[in-house]
Amino acid sequence: MNAEVRVQVDLGERSYDIVIGPGLLDRIGLMLASQGWEADSPGLVVTDRNVAKFGYADRVASSLRAAGFQTSIALVEPGESAKCLEVAKTLYDAAFDASLDRKSMIFAVGGGVVGDLAGFVAATYMRGIAWIQVPTTILAHDSSVGGKVGINHPRGKNMIGAFHQPSAVLFDTSVLRTLPDREVRSGLAEVVKHAAIWDEDFFSWLEVHVPQILALQDSALSGILAKGCQIKAAVVSRDERESGMRAILNFGHTLGHALETLSGYRGITHGEAVAIGMVFAAALSEELGMCAAGVKERLEHLLLAFGLPVRIPKELAEPEILQCMLHDKKAVGGHLTFVLIEKIGRVRIVKNVDAAAVLRVLERLREA
Ligand SMILES: NC(=O)c1ccc[n+]([C@@H]2O[C@H](COP(=O)([O-])OP(=O)(O)OC[C@H]3O[C@@H](n4cnc5c(N)ncnc54)[C@H](O)[C@@H]3O)[C@@H](O)[C@H]2O)c1
Ligand SMILES: [Zn+2]
Repeated sequence: MNAEVRVQVDLGERSYDIVIGPGLLDRIGLMLASQGWEADSPGLVVTDRNVAKFGYADRVASSLRAAGFQTSIALVEPGESAKCLEVAKTLYDAAFDASLDRKSMIFAVGGGVVGDLAGFVAATYMRGIAWIQVPTTILAHDSSVGGKVGINHPRGKNMIGAFHQPSAVLFDTSVLRTLPDREVRSGLAEVVKHAAIWDEDFFSWLEVHVPQILALQDSALSGILAKGCQIKAAVVSRDERESGMRAILNFGHTLGHALETLSGYRGITHGEAVAIGMVFAAALSEELGMCAAGVKERLEHLLLAFGLPVRIPKELAEPEILQCMLHDKKAVGGHLTFVLIEKIGRVRIVKNVDAAAVLRVLERLREA
C-alpha cells in the first residue's frame, strides 16, 4: 500500500511540501532530480550517531549519489547537547571540507535536534543555503513546520537561531519503527498539543485510537503526522515570524522549557517536559477561572494513556522554576505570559499572569 500523504506549507515564495509515507529514504535522489535540483553542487547529509547506526543517512546518501549528486555525511553525537555552537562549528568545517557552495543543500536526517542544528548551519553557512529535512522521530513532525532553526546557549534553550524554511520535508514513516519507546511517547506530546490547541475532533480521535498509535500502525501514524503538520502549518501560515498568533504553539512550553533548562537538558525529554507543561497550563487556566472543569482531566488522561509524565519532578523547587519562566525568551519585560486553554481545541495567550497563582499551581502539580 502506498500510504503517501502530502501537506503543503503555504508561505508564499517560501512554500514547501511535506511528504509523509513509508519508503521515502531511498527515493530522495530521484525526487530531487525530478524537481530540477542540479548535480553540479555537492550536498551534505547531517545525522547523529544513533540514527546513523540504522543506516538511514547512508540510504539517503546512496539515493542521492545514485541520482548523480556528490554527497558526504557528517556525524554529530546524539542528544540535545549537540545543539551548541561547538558542534555547529564542526558542521561548518564539514561544509568547507565538502566544498559546499551557495547552490548546495544540507540534508538533516534525524530528530528535532539534528533538524534544528543542521537547519541552523544551513541558515548561516554562506548567509544561508537550501536544506531538506528528513525527520526520523515523531516529535520532528513539529519541528518540520515553521522554519525555526537554532541551537541552545547554556543559559537558555533555542536562544541562538533563525527562521529558515526547508525546501522540502520527506518523512519516511518506516524509520519510526526503530525509535525507542520513550521517544515515541515524547513525540506524541506534540501531537496532543496540536489537537488541544486547535481541533477537538482530532483530540477525540486520538482518545479512541491510543492502541493503534502506540502500535505504530502505518495509517494511524501517517494520519497523526499529517494532521499535526496541517495544524501547525495553518497556524504558521497566518503568522510566520511569531508576531502574535503563532505563540499559541507554545502551549505547555513555558513551563516545559524551564523544566528542560533546569535539568540541564538531561533526564527529561522535550515531549515529557511539554506534557507536564500542558497539564500545568490547564491547571492554571482552571485556577484563573478561564476554562470549564474537566479540561485538565481530559488532557491528563490522554497524556497518561500515551505514557507521558504529568507531574513536576520533585527535585525542582517552585521559586527556581518561576525565575526560569521569567527569563524565558517569550517573557517580555519580566511579565509572565502563558498560553491558557479555554476548552479542548481553543487556547488564548494571557499576559501578566499573577506569579502567586503560578506558584500555587506549581506546588499542586509537584510529584508526590
Ligand atoms: N524547530 C522547531 O520548531 C522545533 C519544534 C519542536 C521541537 N524542536 C526541537 O526538537 C528537539 C527534540 O527533538 P527529538 O525529540 O526528535 O529529539 P532527538 O533529535 O534528540 O531524537 C531523540 C533520540 O532518538 C534517536 N533517534 C532519532 N530517530 C531515530 C530512529 N528513527 N530510530 C532510532 N533512534 C532514533 C536520536 O538519536 C536521539 O537519541 C529539541 O531540541 C526541540 O527544541 C524544534
Ligand atoms: Zn515543542
